[in-house]
Amino acid sequence: MLPSFGVIGLGRMAQALLVPLIQAGLVDPGGVRAVVASPASAERLSALYGLAVATDPREAWMAPVVLLAVKPQQLAAAAAAAAAAAPVGCTGVLVSVLAGVPLARLQRLFPGWRCVRAVPNTPCLVGQGLTGLSLASEVSTSEGDLIQSLFAQVGEVHRLPESQLDAFLALTSSGPAFVALVAEAMADGAVAAGLPRLLAQHLAHRTLAGSAALLQGQELHPAQLKDMVSSPAGTTIAGLRQLERAGLRSALIEAVLAAAERSRELGADRVP
Ligand SMILES: NC(=O)c1ccc[n+]([C@@H]2O[C@H](COP(=O)([O-])OP(=O)(O)OC[C@H]3O[C@@H](n4cnc5c(N)ncnc54)[C@H](OP(=O)(O)O)[C@@H]3O)[C@@H](O)[C@H]2O)c1
Repeated sequence: MLPSFGVIGLGRMAQALLVPLIQAGLVDPGGVRAVVASPASAERLSALYGLAVATDPREAWMAPVVLLAVKPQQLAAAAAAAAAAAPVGCTGVLVSVLAGVPLARLQRLFPGWRCVRAVPNTPCLVGQGLTGLSLASEVSTSEGDLIQSLFAQVGEVHRLPESQLDAFLALTSSGPAFVALVAEAMADGAVAAGLPRLLAQHLAHRTLAGSAALLQGQELHPAQLKDMVSSPAGTTIAGLRQLERAGLRSALIEAVLAAAERSRELGADRVP
């Protein structure tokens, strides 16, 4: 169990990660030192979780492992607070979940800290997440294993070279929005065909979840599942023909590519 754990920015993503870590006994709740910007948030979150949540970052920056989970535009303020708070030589492992902020920039802003860049996705909220991890060369094997074990509490973890994190983010972090659009459109189609809205939505979600479970559970290639459901001159092939005509495949490929490109641009913008 980690006796001391700093959290800079206890917003949605940090809460989604921290609560399962405490529940799993990997982090001692008495050793959590969390920081937020406003006193109102500090009061609300202290009462909600029974944790030490403050607006003064000094204690959080004393922890050997610190989770950095502010918005990217709040990064400079967090770095200034770290410099002011941490005594010289007192640095540990800094795990950043900030989208698009490269390791090189983290190492520059937080000198002495051994930095890890993590890309978690929203399904972490329900323990079905995916996290990509890239480690600075200064991070030791045991520190890397420790950080990996923390993210494993909320889903699957993949260690990747940093050059692959933009593509990872495009598929796994932007992907839930693409899937949500597909779910909504499929439900719209069912409403157009005569089903009540709530039932259509429920069935669309179950169809997506069941299909993903089948693909994974039976290790099917997507084409195998498609062919299993498409009988000659049947209903599915009639629908597939429409999807091909509308360019669904190409639209999804371009969506993932555009998200990866945007992630690269955002990272480049932030390099001083
Ligand atoms: N949400 C996601 O699905 C997701 C997925 C992957 C990565 N991320 C990354 O996670 C980061 C946080 O996103 P989020 O959605 O959790 O944001 P959020 O809910 O807005 O949380 C931001 C937190 O940072 C606090 N804060 C602001 N300025 C601060 C400062 N100078 N020092 C310390 N704390 C400060 C805020 O406090 P107040 O409440 O007092 O304002 C709030 O608790 C982002 O960089 C994002 O790229 C998010």
